[in-house]
Amino acid sequence: MTSTAAHAGVDLEGVDLMDPEWFTDGPPHELFARMRAEAPVRWNALPGGGGFWSVTRHDDVSAISRDTATFSSHRAGVFLHPDQVLPLELNRNVLLYKDPPEHTRYRKILQTAFVPNTVAKLEDDIRARVTRVLDAVIERGECDFVPDVAVPVPLGVLADLMGLPDADIPKLLAWTEGIEAGQLSPEPAAATPTFVEMAGYLYEQIERQVAAGGESLVTQLRAAEVDGVRLDDAEIATFFGLLVFAGNDTTRNTASSGTLALLDHPEQFAMLRADESLIPQAVEEILRYTSVVNYFVRTATTETSVGGQAIAEGDKVVLWYTSASRDESIYDDPQRFDITRAEQNHQAFGGGGRHFCLGAGLARLELRVLFEELARRMADLALAGDVARLRSTWANALTSMPVTC
Ligand code: HEM
Repeated sequence: MTSTAAHAGVDLEGVDLMDPEWFTDGPPHELFARMRAEAPVRWNALPGGGGFWSVTRHDDVSAISRDTATFSSHRAGVFLHPDQVLPLELNRNVLLYKDPPEHTRYRKILQTAFVPNTVAKLEDDIRARVTRVLDAVIERGECDFVPDVAVPVPLGVLADLMGLPDADIPKLLAWTEGIEAGQLSPEPAAATPTFVEMAGYLYEQIERQVAAGGESLVTQLRAAEVDGVRLDDAEIATFFGLLVFAGNDTTRNTASSGTLALLDHPEQFAMLRADESLIPQAVEEILRYTSVVNYFVRTATTETSVGGQAIAEGDKVVLWYTSASRDESIYDDPQRFDITRAEQNHQAFGGGGRHFCLGAGLARLELRVLFEELARRMADLALAGDVARLRSTWANALTSMPVTC
């Protein structure tokens, strides 16, 4: 069973989208297209009992994302199991798991550090990092694009943003891998030891930066005040922990799958190299086409309905961003990769509303700089072997992509 198999004859009744087999070759886009047409809000039974509402249309994902009173992130978390990755009580300390009004206050404080001006100041550092990473692999003439390019760029940018020394990047990588493994594990709270170790390190780093003085994200976050509320250092450490999870794999996976999309569509890559002004638009198309976070979950706080389908209080709904980003009611010929596409309201960063990705500006900047430098420096980039994928229903991720450059 693969995503490229013809899904025309598949009986949707029996499909369990939490079975990673469907994602072997990437998200099963033909299956999602059928669901959007035939069963846009569909009950997905799970083998162990229970199930969830699978929501595949753009408008429905958007409406649910914007209605935080009816569809909670706090009540039972944003994955199917409340204790997936970390125990729910620990998860609830991070922004992603909060509902208004707490979410609103907390997010306002954090946003001060991510306003466009602050992000724009990072461009020179990002470009220096990207060119260092690319020049090192160009020198060798070949590399595995995932560990050699896509991994170090976002990790390094996060380290710069959080004021962490480059020497600690391998630690950050190991912790990211620990959290990723926790996400894939059927065991509840599997990433707890990793998270506790990482939070301890981040707390120490924050104390070090405070003692050293000077301007940094830490000092900005400590100074930010909304309605008389400030973050304490433990809350800043928790936020940094979220950044390591939210800002790392996501950007890495978009960079590698986006590069693969360009290699699979050489005429688009040629167009991008010929006219750099297309790159911001190409980044939006790459975000849409790869939509690397396949889903997040919400829990209904009351009896309600979506697209005419009754939903009971306590039911889980799975928001398939990856499907919404290819909804034919929004996009012309949605399976086509087209860097000149005009429609841009993809859901790679979520369905909109209050939880819309806080790092979208930073991710866009990183990806723009990466593809600019790739277009300038890697005109001969070519696949040199098979790509390998992570076995996951949640992350659309390559683990290996051998290339010559
Ligand atoms: C291409 C890269 C990225 C993708 C695809 C991505 C995707 C997402 C998605 C789907 C959400 C959930 C939205 C929702 O529930 O409505 C989210 C939230 C978030 N992202 Fe990103 N993200 C990316 C990069 C980043 C970066 C670079 C950072 C920061 C350094 C970041 C920080 C966050 C945070 C803090 C949240 C939680 C926002 C909230 O709950 O209010 N993300 N992201």
